[in-house]
Amino acid sequence: MTYKTGGILIENLRKVYGHGDTAVEALKNVNMQVSAGEVVGLVGPSGAGKSTLLKCLGAIIEPTSGRMTLGNEVIFEDGCANFELVDTCENIRELPVKSAVQIKIDNLKRELAELEKLV
Ligand SMILES: Nc1ncnc2c1ncn2[C@@H]1O[C@H](COP(=O)(O)OP(=O)(O)O)[C@@H](O)[C@H]1O
Ligand SMILES: [Mg+2]
Repeated sequence: MTYKTGGILIENLRKVYGHGDTAVEALKNVNMQVSAGEVVGLVGPSGAGKSTLLKCLGAIIEPTSGRMTLGNEVIFEDGCANFELVDTCENIRELPVKSAVQIKIDNLKRELAELEKLV
């Protein structure tokens, strides 16, 4: 397979959650590539590893080993080896949490405003 710049290249990606007896191998040496502009559907039964793969691609979690190339940047090489991107990983990791908390606060404020109308 030839990789054209601008896409996604995933090589031998592995993700293990936990350690020892309770370890779960969610991704077992995944190899795939997506060309720029290509639309790909990820299907599989519950627990197949779809969310884990997407979380790795979004740098929300770090794969245990393997390599991920986005565009022409290797973003993971046996973990988060690109130090400039370690910071980006840290930042991105907080994003869903922050937005989820903000949504919750907004909902609570809306509910409170509704309740205040009643008293
Ligand atoms: N944070 C986690 N800690 C431990 N195991 C996890 C965690 N997230 C997912 N898993 C396990 O990894 C496997 C793949 O899960 P997941 O990527 O969520 O699959 P899918 O999205 O295809 O349903 C499952 O066995 C799941 O129980
Ligand atoms: Mg899922």
